[in-house]
Parts: sequence; C-alpha cells; structure tokens
Amino acid sequence: MKLIISNLKMNFTLEEAKSYKEALDTLECKKNTLIICPSYPYLSYFNGKNYYLGSQNIASRKMGSLTGEVSIEQLISLGIQYAIIGHSERRIYSNEDDHLIRKKMALCFDYHVVPILCIGESLEEKEKKLEVLKKQLDTVLYDLELKEIIIAYEPVWSIGTGNTPAHDEIKSTLQWIKEYMKNNYSIECKVIYGGSVNQRNIESLNRIEEIDGYLIGGASLKIEELRKIIEILEVKK
Ligand code: 13P
Repeated sequence: MKLIISNLKMNFTLEEAKSYKEALDTLECKKNTLIICPSYPYLSYFNGKNYYLGSQNIASRKMGSLTGEVSIEQLISLGIQYAIIGHSERRIYSNEDDHLIRKKMALCFDYHVVPILCIGESLEEKEKKLEVLKKQLDTVLYDLELKEIIIAYEPVWSIGTGNTPAHDEIKSTLQWIKEYMKNNYSIECKVIYGGSVNQRNIESLNRIEEIDGYLIGGASLKIEELRKIIEILEVKK
C-alpha cells in the first residue's frame, strides 16, 4: 500500500476545482491510499468516496482571534484527516520556522489529525543534508508525545524543477530517516518522497522499496496525469 498525496497548492478557481473534483470521482485507487489537499475554500467540495482529505496547513493556535488563519477544528469540521505541516514553501514564503511547525505538530497529535511533516535540504545545504534533516526533525519533534505521523522528504531544490535526486540517494536518505525515527523516537513511520514526481519517473521511483508514497504537486494538477500515476502504482504490489 502506497500513499499518493496530491498537494494542489494555490491553484484552481472554484469552477476549475469543481471539474477537477468531478474527474477525481472517476479515478480508481483500490490498492493504494489517495489523499487530496485542495486550497481551504474548496475543501467542502471534495467529499468523494475514493480519497481522503488533507489540508495544506493549519493555524498554530486552536481557535479565536487570528485573522486570515484556519484552525484545525474548523478543518476537521470540513472533513480533513491529514494535514501537510512545514512545507518548504511555507518555510520560505511565510517564514515558518521549526518552532512554529512544532506547535502545529502538537495540535495535530492532540486532535488526531495525521501530520505529513515536510523536511528537506536546500541546494546550498546539500553537502550537509543529514545534519539539516536531523535538526528539522529534532526541533520539531523532541519531547512531543508522538502519534501516527507521515514524514515527507522533499529536497527543496527538487520541487517544481524536474530534477530528482539519484535513486540511491533517495533510498539511503529514506533509510536514514526511518532508522533515525526508530532509534530516537521509538516510532516506525511512513516516509514518502516529494519533488518533481510525474508519470514519467513514477515507475522507476517505485522500484525504491523504502518509499512509502509520494507527495505530488504539479503533476497532480492534471487529472489525467494523476490517473496515469495511480494506474501505474495500482499494478505494483
Ligand atoms: P512538484 O511535484 O511540483 O515538484 O511539487 C512537490 C511538492 O511541493 C509537493 O508538496
């Protein structure tokens, strides 16, 4: 079973979102788990039976006076069971740091929403990748009471660029994350890969056993490409 997580980011008008949703209802995803993360305003339209719903973010506080934010309770009332936390675009463009991300993770655990925690190194940090990942994990998770968690390894330099790390690098990084979480947090978690996943590279990526799923941006916006990716993953074990 693989996780296929579609991060629609800040795309689609309401009409486009509605027609995407209609096409989504015709997709067959039986062996794997499909999770769709639309923009907040469209969450209530995405109520299909063949996928779960995730949010792209949550507010760092529970409820109340926080203009322009959306709370985890509000998102749960719209049907989410998953939340992307700490995406690199939020780290870069909204100045989210590991301390803020930690608050959001704690809320997810409190409310039994499964966090999809994004970690990954920038191009400049490539040489010290494991050090960067370790710091991101520890600042965010240290001393929290962990529940179910999905970790998304998304190298920042791979997002939207068409470049992916060499497959043996993805393999060893995911292996390292799994071992690190087991040894330091006594937890076996699913670790997924994100960054320029598409219908052309999904078959070869899927030969990497360590990958428990994919966080897909651009390619998931095109419903026929998403269909193709799902079909390719359906025929695999
Ligand atoms: P792309 O698939 O467009 O590279 O985006 C990856 C991503 O950021 C998913 O969260």
